[in-house]
Amino acid sequence: MQVVHSLDALRAALKPYDRPAFVPTMGNLHDGHLALLAMAKEHGDVRVASIFVNRLQFGPNEDFDAYPRTFERDCALLEAAGCDVLFAPREADLYPQAQTFLIHPPTGLADVLEGAFRPGFFVGVSTVVMKLFQCVFSGTKTQAHAFFGEKDFQQQLIIRHLVTQFALPVTIVTSPTIRESDGLAMSSRNSYLSEAERAEAPRLQACLQAMLAAVKAGQQSLEAIEGTAMATLRAHQWQPDYMVIRRREDLGMPTDRDRALVVLGAAKLGRTRLIDNLSFDR
Ligand code: PAJ
Repeated sequence: MQVVHSLDALRAALKPYDRPAFVPTMGNLHDGHLALLAMAKEHGDVRVASIFVNRLQFGPNEDFDAYPRTFERDCALLEAAGCDVLFAPREADLYPQAQTFLIHPPTGLADVLEGAFRPGFFVGVSTVVMKLFQCVFSGTKTQAHAFFGEKDFQQQLIIRHLVTQFALPVTIVTSPTIRESDGLAMSSRNSYLSEAERAEAPRLQACLQAMLAAVKAGQQSLEAIEGTAMATLRAHQWQPDYMVIRRREDLGMPTDRDRALVVLGAAKLGRTRLIDNLSFDR
């Protein structure tokens, strides 16, 4: 595996290839990230991963400084998983000047749920993904692929719109959420949890499962289902931001006719904020 930091070195490394299969990450890799890389193996002619903790997508009171950085271990995991090129830009490589051109994703899609609780988050994500795509795909000769996890449902939806609206030569492939054996979605932020919190953490996913079951059982009031989930989490010392049932296509409020749905939740356990979702058809 070639490890490159500068944009020039990345372009030189990718020059012999036509169709990179690209997995962008912020590092501290786990099986969720590696599942994306495994999918990437089936596409393109070179596997590229990036590791960059993107300051632009963290709020002023969020965990940019504390975010786990485990570069040596990540390199070993990527190498073993068959990654060909790792792009690990330093901040000065990706943001040599203050980034004042920004991608503002559309309201409706980006101002709700994660966007409502993390103002500016999707501006930071969209801008860095656009920039990473410019770096990785600049020499691409045919349609290439980039891989995102369903774990961050709203993120992959917004990136799909970004790619369509800017006519990027990239197909977005989404991979299912990889979970621990007790159902907790794998996340770099799980390492913040204390032992007691780690034991409690699968409840978020269990509440989403209960919401899904209630919808499937024909319970009419989605608000009531959402309210029950919020109350259950609060009763177990969580601080939920949202527990909602939405249309899968655009995160709009489902009407009776909508069949393809997703339940999404975000909640704080102690100081750790966890998110999860489940897609289903009713
Ligand atoms: P990061 O949180 O490192 O996640 C990188 C990719 O891994 C994302 O597409 C995310 O959805 C996916 N992922 C994380 N946990 C997963 C799990 N348990 N199962 C399946 N996929 C999982 O998401 C980001 O980084 C950043 O916002 C980024 C897109 C790199 C832009 O900075």
